[in-house]
Amino acid sequence: MIGKIDHVGIAVRSIDEARGFYEAMGLEVAEIEEVPHEGVRVAMIPCGEGRIELLEPTRDDSPVAKFLDKQGPGIHHLCLASDDVEGDDRSLRDGGYRLIRDEPTRGAGGSRVQFVHPKSAGGVLVELAQPGAAGEEDR
Ligand code: CO
Repeated sequence: MIGKIDHVGIAVRSIDEARGFYEAMGLEVAEIEEVPHEGVRVAMIPCGEGRIELLEPTRDDSPVAKFLDKQGPGIHHLCLASDDVEGDDRSLRDGGYRLIRDEPTRGAGGSRVQFVHPKSAGGVLVELAQPGAAGEEDR
């Protein structure tokens, strides 16, 4: 089940350059983490109940690098917090919605994540994330 909006993911060419705007408004980068299998560095910026996630590609062939090549920097995805990402994955799949991965995988911060294809979600790439639910096998 979906709880709240967890974060908005923003594709940037450089975290070091992009973070200044948010810091100018008094927000702070809480942590920076690399997610090697996604080819990104991720900076999390807490903002009230939600967070802003800056995504910087670490490889030319990563999904975020391709997004930047096509569209330039900007909003990349909307993340909804799930308390059961496997269950949401199944029920969306059963409902005919298109999921990006065959099954949920490890995301930033030890979460377990799945993505819904923009073609199934009104043009928005939607991430479903279950905090702290990454399995031992893919930590
Ligand atoms: Co995200």
